[in-house]
Amino acid sequence: MRIGVLTAGGDCPGLNAVIRSVVHRALVGHGDEVIGFEDGFKGLLDGHYRPLDINAVSGILARGGTILGSARMERARLHEAAENAEELARRYEIDALIPIGGEGTLTASRMLSDAGMPVVGVPKTIDNDISATDRTFGFDTAVTVATEAIDRLKTTAESHQRVMVVEVMGRHAGWIALESGMAGGAHGICLPERPFEVDALVKMVEERFARGKKFAVICVAEGAHPAEGSMPYEKGAIDAYGHERFAGIGNRLAVELEHRLGKEARPVILGHVQRGGVPTAYDRVLATRFGWHAVEAVHRGDFGNMTALRGTDVVMAPLAEAVTELKTVPDDRMYEAESVF
Ligand code: F6P
Repeated sequence: MRIGVLTAGGDCPGLNAVIRSVVHRALVGHGDEVIGFEDGFKGLLDGHYRPLDINAVSGILARGGTILGSARMERARLHEAAENAEELARRYEIDALIPIGGEGTLTASRMLSDAGMPVVGVPKTIDNDISATDRTFGFDTAVTVATEAIDRLKTTAESHQRVMVVEVMGRHAGWIALESGMAGGAHGICLPERPFEVDALVKMVEERFARGKKFAVICVAEGAHPAEGSMPYEKGAIDAYGHERFAGIGNRLAVELEHRLGKEARPVILGHVQRGGVPTAYDRVLATRFGWHAVEAVHRGDFGNMTALRGTDVVMAPLAEAVTELKTVPDDRMYEAESVF
């Protein structure tokens, strides 16, 4: 068999581990051929690809980013790919395509699959918000980076009797904020799923200072927003992909808290630091398992599906299921964290 692989959308620690696993399983396990398309669906449409042999994936297991490059793509070009799905499969003489990506990539993969391309998807996102799988690789790495940041911010906050507002990624789902906030023991956690009350945050910080704890760390997801009337607030801007961006919530919350508390507050925007660098052992293992199962699915002819973690098992889930709704933080998980505002 000849299998095509590509990575699309925002990058994520563990992508190289999937590519390596696909190549190993396909070449060593089945005697297949693998080609890698460059820069996501762009490479598929524009004919930019290269053969991937064992040497091409040597030493990449622990490397962040993706050796194939990645890109987000406009919907129009994705439709172009779907319209030409069968012709593209013929052009590259591929028997299957394994696209590795998030919500947008899986939506495009479904379109390609519906149009006749044999596709097995692999989900990825540091946000962990794909509903068909319990976990995505990259998430554990992002939580580990954010937790270390919270640990570090506590010592400097304490030295200066400051409030630190650390903004982590998560536009629509607050999993990174929830879990890094829990692991780092943040005193306040703000999620996109529930508008937060600034008054309650102010009260919490004042109580801490009254108890003699003269610092606080608040972990806020980039997509979190204050309850109406809780803070002067303008609507987010719509980005090129139709997502509402609440840019700068960390900065704005720090300014607001400093003003109301009369104490120094500092914003720290972690941004893409959470997406770069080496994947954790957990993410390497999950990514490797996904790659292995994707190749097995190709050999079973199990197309139109993607790998998914259910409990501790890797199963196949319909691509259609992956993109129906985002997996957001449910109320009972918020209650467990206690410091969610
Ligand atoms: O979806 C993954 C993610 O890292 C989000 O958490 C974040 O909002 C977004 O991508 C950032 O995208 P970009 O790299 O295009 O700025």
